[in-house]
Amino acid sequence: MTATATRPLTVTDAIETRHSIRKFVQQPMNADDLREILRLASLAPSAWNAQTWRFAVVQNPEVKEQLQAAAYGQPQIGSAPAVIVVYSDMEDTLDTVEDTAHPGMGEEGRAGQRKTFNGAFGGQDVAQRGQWGLSQANIAFGFLMLAARGLGYDTVPMLGFQPDKVRELLKLPEHVQFAGLLPIGKRAEDGFPHHRHDVERVTTFY
Ligand SMILES: Cc1cc2nc3c(=O)[nH]c(=O)nc-3n(C[C@H](O)[C@H](O)[C@H](O)COP(=O)(O)O)c2cc1C
Repeated sequence: MTATATRPLTVTDAIETRHSIRKFVQQPMNADDLREILRLASLAPSAWNAQTWRFAVVQNPEVKEQLQAAAYGQPQIGSAPAVIVVYSDMEDTLDTVEDTAHPGMGEEGRAGQRKTFNGAFGGQDVAQRGQWGLSQANIAFGFLMLAARGLGYDTVPMLGFQPDKVRELLKLPEHVQFAGLLPIGKRAEDGFPHHRHDVERVTTFY
């Protein structure tokens, strides 16, 4: 049996009820919901609309097992029906940069987009511009967690893994950078209550 989203949560409810969940109900992800969550995450903003993020969805149990091994055996990977690997590919972004120019801007916009990116990143090395690409992908990573929660799913963001092993497993080029792994499914536990600094501790009003 698969799960289907009922009514989407409000943004406020999605934020309030998102907790890191490390034990999931053992049922496959609904394919339509998964696709919709990825579509919503793709609506994240990015500088110059670069959209550097890329997603690899792992559902195959054998691949998931190897992913878990690359993540120091963290069991939430094996527990989740799917794991979304979120990474940035700045080199692909640069190679196909015209695709990110808004169609309303026409040929002039496409040429302008190329010029902008060549000017900004032409003088940088792969690692340096890769870092910039990752800062954009991190925005989509945040959107992804809330989109999932909004449709009734749960996640746990993860950076505890060996990037080289994940690159090798998923046959990703060396230059890609990871925003994180995101096990996703329906919660089989409640997670911890929020424990956060209060607003005064982290904010200065001018
Ligand atoms: C970038 C990032 C990396 C994280 N890596 C891991 C991880 O490798 N393993 C894990 O169990 N939790 C990981 N977490 C989850 C945090 O421990 C969790 O978000 C934090 O304690 C706050 O709890 P909450 O998500 O339930 O609000 C990570 C969270 C973030 C944002």
